[in-house]
Amino acid sequence: MNLAEQNQLKRAAAESAAALVQDGMILGLGTGSTAALFIQALSRRLAADGLRIKGIPTSSNTEDLARSLGIPLSSFAENAQIDLTVDGADEIERGTVCLIKGRGGALLREKIVAAASQRMVVIADETKLVDRLGSLVSVPVEVVRFGWQATARNLAKIGGNPSLRLGNDETPYVTDGGNFIMDCAFGPIAEPKEVAHQLDHVVGVIEHGLFLGYASEAIVAGREGLKTYIRSGN
Ligand code: 5RP
Repeated sequence: MNLAEQNQLKRAAAESAAALVQDGMILGLGTGSTAALFIQALSRRLAADGLRIKGIPTSSNTEDLARSLGIPLSSFAENAQIDLTVDGADEIERGTVCLIKGRGGALLREKIVAAASQRMVVIADETKLVDRLGSLVSVPVEVVRFGWQATARNLAKIGGNPSLRLGNDETPYVTDGGNFIMDCAFGPIAEPKEVAHQLDHVVGVIEHGLFLGYASEAIVAGREGLKTYIRSGN
């Protein structure tokens, strides 16, 4: 699939999610190219239908985009709960709608927002669908900078085969929270809950990109059209 076609599919999924937004909602605004298309579609809906919503962004990039489009923003200081979050993903497991997220580096804020959401809808093109998490991408793991080499050794012990993410200038990539990311190549993961549990217990790990049980549905655009996958079994 070429980039133009993939973008067209991402846009179709984003437009479909924008139709779910209702007046008065508090919205979680995801990060990445697909989420950006949703935010653009949302701004068109706000203008066309006069909806009053407030968004809680999952990254400084998303915050900048939303502000530039005039989307009203809010925070957890004013809201305990989010009605609907729309976000992209790097992998979506068919059936369970479990995810790998964080290639865009925003996994920590994305998970905080997802955990506070009544409904999380994932939008993607069909290249993100997998039968087993870890088949296409590594699991991003956000770690504190201090002692990251020690944390990396412990991630290796649980089979993570970690590599420190670098930015364009070949220096370590730094997240919005000021931390590093270790991309952990577990390969196809048979027991995601077990791996998530292990990651949760590595000292120095702040959060990881296994999103298990957060998304209620995924809107996936493919050559055959849009398909909605509903969470089951977790
Ligand atoms: C950022 C993310 C993104 O949602 C994920 O990387 C998908 O991005 P894109 O829509 O650009 O493929 O998790 O941390």
